[in-house]
Amino acid sequence: MASYMIRGGNRLVGDVTISGSKNAALGIIAASMLLDGPCKIDHAPNVDDINMLVEICRSMGAQIRREADGALEIDPRFVTNGETIDERSRNIRGSYYLLGAMLGRFNYASIYMPGGCNFGPRPIDLHVKGFEALGATTVFEHGRITVSSEKMQGEHIFLDTVSVGATINIMIAAAKIEGVTVIENAAREPHIVDVANFLNTMGANIRGAGTDVIRITGVPVLPGNVSYSIIPDQIEAGTYMLAAALTRGDVTVRNIIPKHMEPLSAKLEEMGARVVSGDDSIRVFIPEDTVLQATSFRTMPYPGFPTDLQPPTTVLLCTAQGSSKMTENVWDNRFQYIDDLKTMGADIMIAGRLALIEGGNPLTGAKVFARDLRAGAAMVLAGLVAEGTTEVNDVSKIERGYESFVKKLQDLGADITRIDS
Ligand code: UD1
Repeated sequence: MASYMIRGGNRLVGDVTISGSKNAALGIIAASMLLDGPCKIDHAPNVDDINMLVEICRSMGAQIRREADGALEIDPRFVTNGETIDERSRNIRGSYYLLGAMLGRFNYASIYMPGGCNFGPRPIDLHVKGFEALGATTVFEHGRITVSSEKMQGEHIFLDTVSVGATINIMIAAAKIEGVTVIENAAREPHIVDVANFLNTMGANIRGAGTDVIRITGVPVLPGNVSYSIIPDQIEAGTYMLAAALTRGDVTVRNIIPKHMEPLSAKLEEMGARVVSGDDSIRVFIPEDTVLQATSFRTMPYPGFPTDLQPPTTVLLCTAQGSSKMTENVWDNRFQYIDDLKTMGADIMIAGRLALIEGGNPLTGAKVFARDLRAGAAMVLAGLVAEGTTEVNDVSKIERGYESFVKKLQDLGADITRIDS
């Protein structure tokens, strides 16, 4: 189990370049399995979740090559049916997009129930509801889910809850089937727009992604034969913006879409940080003599405050002056890391979905764990400002989603080392 040793106290200063969006890449790579020709995907991040999905697609017959510049050359023409998705689908959440892709291509898909971060129940009933509306039947058996259909047909689907995964999965499944599919109450996250743009570039006809009504007119062929560049990772960018504020540093986060960062930028400014947006960058620093102030925030689907930035934002609030309130509205159990933060000296009280954070208690180094991907990143951030040494264990969870995390932090001046054990 690898760990990170962090000696706190260094201000982060300099530039950091953000990688391609992990969550968009998961949808796009799975969606590429629908294509009738090859494609090239630029900026697919080199992180464990993406590499795992690539391996699963290879085991299905797809030919995938990673170029020296990180781009993925994908040829899905050798995938011959939807029965070949192997049991590594258990390891990552994004494997569920292969259900939509194989169903859309072969009218049949069968996978082991997808895994991923544990922050409470992660049902897929809305994905299933969507597939069934399009004409599929579903069987859950021996830990597998199998969806199949004689004939898929476009349909009107209303999602009871705003779900990123269900929106993307239904969009993928519907891209190549006959008729028009309308998804109402669709999620609007940037990576949904990115998956839709990818499919459109490959020949699909999807309109409205980024709004809550998406209209997909099925096309018989998705020729591919085109390159596509994945958007920057909104959550990775947010993590470095928070690290800059937390260490009272001065960091320019490059290769980002500033609009995607607005909910976080607004909160940082409210607290007293300066956030200066360029065309594709944001500089975050704390003006001299400014003491960061407490604030309140609640996580919501996009364009609300992203739940995936909740843990690192909570760490920042531990260092602000005054009492803050944080409400987690998306997941039932996303507070597991708070006990670790408390062992580092944080003063946080939990009441249901609400956390009350009393800022100003100095954090002190301790042995803690990466409970999940974003919680793990939050513990690293806590280590950056803690007195003494922090040991973050089980960092493979962090490496599922952050490309070159240690190197990027070191380049900004952090004292962090990866220990293999
Ligand atoms: C994606 C992200 C994850 C992020 C989340 C919310 C990926 C791989 N993961 O997860 O990092 O935290 O969006 O922004 O992109 N729900 C149902 N039934 C369903 C599906 C979801 O009730 O069939 C509920 C969930 O329990 C949750 C809420 O809907 O409370 C949102 O989940 P969803 O948007 O689907 O999250 P994921 O796509 O799994």
